[in-house]
Amino acid sequence: MTESRLQPPPKRIIVLGSTGSIGRNALNVVRHYPGRFEVIGLAAHANAALLARQIDEFNPTHAVLTAPDADIQWASQFPKTHVSTGLEAAENLAALPVDIVLCAMVGAAGLRPIWSAIQAGNDIALANKEPLVMAGPLIMAEARRRKVQVLPVDSEHSAIFQCIHGHKEADVLCIHLTASGGPFYGRATDTLRNVTPAQATRHPTWDMGAKISVDSSTLMNKGLEIIEAMALFDIPEHRIETVIHPQSVVHSLVEFTDGNILAHLGVTDMKFPILFALTYPERVQSPMARLDLTSMPALTFAKPDFEEFPCLYYARKAATRGGTAPAVLNAANEEAVQAFCAGRIPFLGIAEVVRDATQAVSAREATSMEAVMEADREARRAAVEAIAVRTR
Ligand SMILES: NC(=O)c1ccc[n+]([C@@H]2O[C@H](COP(=O)([O-])OP(=O)(O)OC[C@H]3O[C@@H](n4cnc5c(N)ncnc54)[C@H](OP(=O)(O)O)[C@@H]3O)[C@@H](O)[C@H]2O)c1
Repeated sequence: MTESRLQPPPKRIIVLGSTGSIGRNALNVVRHYPGRFEVIGLAAHANAALLARQIDEFNPTHAVLTAPDADIQWASQFPKTHVSTGLEAAENLAALPVDIVLCAMVGAAGLRPIWSAIQAGNDIALANKEPLVMAGPLIMAEARRRKVQVLPVDSEHSAIFQCIHGHKEADVLCIHLTASGGPFYGRATDTLRNVTPAQATRHPTWDMGAKISVDSSTLMNKGLEIIEAMALFDIPEHRIETVIHPQSVVHSLVEFTDGNILAHLGVTDMKFPILFALTYPERVQSPMARLDLTSMPALTFAKPDFEEFPCLYYARKAATRGGTAPAVLNAANEEAVQAFCAGRIPFLGIAEVVRDATQAVSAREATSMEAVMEADREARRAAVEAIAVRTR
């Protein structure tokens, strides 16, 4: 039998956030496997130049710039691609009939397109963790109701998914989420007063977008990932441990009741979890560089210190409280990180803004998406106020 007769029909995919770090890596994966994927849709926010190059290469039927005022006159050079603007256009895009939607927008903006993809019955490969932090139980319940698979792309959650697969839920004692510790691990808090956005986004082991890089430097990213894991694996906060592992070789571990621990190891390249999610349940040959066990650094693991990483503490508090508390935490953090990146508050101000906003807004039950969105708006108002106090 020839290779072409063995090849299944191409998987029809949509990439939300195609111009970002995850989106570009996903399109690299697609390039590695000609004939395996068909790109039906692409969405970016404002980067029209890169989106145009992607349209030229992948010929999607649909493309979106979510910035409402984006100029799309250039799109007339691609008559086969319907190009539109605004978040609603991204929601419509995510609902087109496809095999899988890769959700890789950044922040809360991805919530509505994710919801739309699930409601349309599309499986999703989820990198965009913030919506799951905001509304994890609602999203997962809707996915179960629509028989939609939510495949994690975050490297830690992809690792856990692979370790946990095929085991009984009752046999899982706990999950160990690994964290690199970010660029400032081990530094005394006092020395972080004058940290610049450029320093905070220089991650020691992963090459990522600005927001997640700053979140990694405060360890808020690990806090968000705890809440993400609670939703994805239906496990309570107290059964999720975090451990600092600066080498980023072990991507996470699952400990079973009988004392056995399964760990996932790999190189720090997001193309691996993206490939796994896009080809699941198959495993395909990978042309990417592999982990060389004999030239690995010594692996170390340490307990994180809440005093060094207060954002991790606030995230654990929100995770335990549940309801709309994680949405409040997420919104406060998004506003704080944006203000830090714009030079309006210092690095240590991020945790202070999160603390003030989460104290100012009471959590309620997250009974509906509207309740979650209202908590998000309230928390942003509180965070903006906390930021203003620091910039006066
Ligand atoms: N990067 C990683 O290695 C990594 C690993 C695990 C999880 N994640 C998660 O994956 C998501 C994407 O991360 P990233 O590092 O790829 O981010 P990124 O490089 O900043 O890219 C973000 C993407 O989202 C688009 N975008 C920005 N603002 C938007 C808005 N308001 N509405 C709609 N789209 C918007 C951007 O479009 P423009 O380019 O046009 O602005 C871009 O395509 C995040 O939730 C992150 O936590 C990332």
